[in-house]
Amino acid sequence: MTKAFVVGHPIAHSRSPLIHGHWLAEHGIEGSYERVDVAPDAFPEFLRTLRACGFTGGNVTIPHKEAAFALVDVLTPRAKAIGAVNTVSFDAQGRLVGDNTDAPGFIAHLDGSLGADWVERSGGTALVLGAGGAARAIVVGLLERGLTRIRVANRTRARAEALVALDPERVAACDWADLPAALPGTGLLVNTTSLGMVGHGALDLDLTPLPATACVADIVYVPLETPLLAAARAWGLPAVDGLGMLLHQAVPGFERWFGVRPAVTPALRERLVADLQG
Ligand code: ATR
Repeated sequence: MTKAFVVGHPIAHSRSPLIHGHWLAEHGIEGSYERVDVAPDAFPEFLRTLRACGFTGGNVTIPHKEAAFALVDVLTPRAKAIGAVNTVSFDAQGRLVGDNTDAPGFIAHLDGSLGADWVERSGGTALVLGAGGAARAIVVGLLERGLTRIRVANRTRARAEALVALDPERVAACDWADLPAALPGTGLLVNTTSLGMVGHGALDLDLTPLPATACVADIVYVPLETPLLAAARAWGLPAVDGLGMLLHQAVPGFERWFGVRPAVTPALRERLVADLQG
């Protein structure tokens, strides 16, 4: 029986077992996907004993993504660029490979929600709000997808400037105070900050200067309809919620561990929505 895991600390809140459990049942696979709570000081030992514990691979979440980056035997180019690992598996030589599926997950979600021509409609331009780990993965994804002008605005400007090194020709930092002036030249606006999340402040931004062809995405999914997405819809712009990234980032791991490429279906999405609201 193939065994996979999600490791974090704490881990009870993780929705990944619901997603992978759904796919295991859908494909009639005799496998398991379990939550494992491991404190930071025990994480290196956990990774060392994965094989002995019978695991084929798994997901790594907060606070272990950077530790996994330092501890795996091999990194994929994406994980290297992002500086964090969220998916591990073994290669044919038995080496532990660290990947990061957040970037392709976000892009697959955009392509599915907006249609593959969103890059042309956006004029190849994006404005990313926030400069944490999620922003870094999204900028890597947008660069891979061929965008030509990506601006990053962050409350703490130095963190936005750190992302410029990903590709100084195509990525620039922008002052948080200059956001309104940046909107007219923005084809895709992405919020990666915690603003708009339940229990956090709201993102106070007037979207009316955005071009009529712009799209707006949020990676926050509690609530599903953030004030930012509601404002985008009210202004007639396509709005992409944060749940799709969570669903799509799970696809490559499942395929690697269980050998079947699973689909992100409306039924799975509805189960996840019901679980989040329950
Ligand atoms: P993650 O790894 O999930 O991206 P993170 O590293 O904690 O999480 O980043 C959270 C982001 O939300 C950061 O860009 C943070 O800005 P700072 O770098 O200045 O901390 C942003 N953020 C959080 N609260 C904010 C607020 N009240 N106003 C503006 N940005 C905020």
